[in-house]
Amino acid sequence: MNNKDWNPDLYLKYRNERTQPSIDLISKINISFRPKSILDIGCGPGNSSQALLQRWPEAKLTGIDNSPNMISKAKAGYPENTWILADAATYLPDTKYDIVFSNATIQWIPNHKKLFKNFFNLTNDGGVLAISVPRFDEMPISKILNRIAGNEKWKAATQGCAAAFTRHDYQFYYNLINPDYQAVDMWQTDYIHVLESQSAIIEWTSSTGMKPYLDRLNEKEKEKAQFGDEVLSEIKQYYPVQNNGKVLFPFKRLFMVGYK
Ligand SMILES: C[S@@+](CC[C@H](N)C(=O)[O-])C[C@H]1O[C@@H](n2cnc3c(N)ncnc32)[C@H](O)[C@@H]1O
Repeated sequence: MNNKDWNPDLYLKYRNERTQPSIDLISKINISFRPKSILDIGCGPGNSSQALLQRWPEAKLTGIDNSPNMISKAKAGYPENTWILADAATYLPDTKYDIVFSNATIQWIPNHKKLFKNFFNLTNDGGVLAISVPRFDEMPISKILNRIAGNEKWKAATQGCAAAFTRHDYQFYYNLINPDYQAVDMWQTDYIHVLESQSAIIEWTSSTGMKPYLDRLNEKEKEKAQFGDEVLSEIKQYYPVQNNGKVLFPFKRLFMVGYK
């Protein structure tokens, strides 16, 4: 197993919290037809795909992901769907889909101008593009990670890590989607996740937003632990323990739906 690959089991420890944005996005897709084909881009272990099939069980679902571990997990869990190991940046088959969907993935892919052109070309006329993306850069945890990565001790190893992510605000996406689609809906939501402890924030982010930093410390378990400890000590300042011992982890997400 490639230890820089995604860890589906760690990712799914927060399955409900990670799937809720997909459920919410799907519920806001305002169409009167029954889509025949759906593409889930960055399908991960298949959780967002399952949410899509819950609304449209008769649709033919294709999930693509560039992580071998994620695709294996999706295949094992839901063998009846089509799962393709592919890079979404270059995935442009001849097929078009009624719904082109992606939750919590595009931030890992560069050049969103080109990516959204591809999404447009993948969508049938009359179809829908539905995307959700974390606004991680607007959250204290992102600033903590960048600050610690900038410390003398970690600087060399983690240089350029923040560039692993491509991030834009809602105006950028509005101007990207609007000319190509007949109508666009957008909204932003803070999910206030209730976690058991402050270290749960480390657990949550180690399989996602903190992953590029930890990948750079690959093989060096002691250094990974030290980096995690330094992040945790700052988490304690920004994410206090509540009266009942739980920790609130507000998570900002941007949603967009384009009707072609
Ligand atoms: C945070 S997970 C989202 C999984 C699932 N869609 C969900 O809603 O929980 C992001 C997924 O994007 C995938 N991914 C990242 N870059 C990608 C790329 N260039 N092409 C395809 N998948 C990519 C990762 O492998 C990972 O499975």
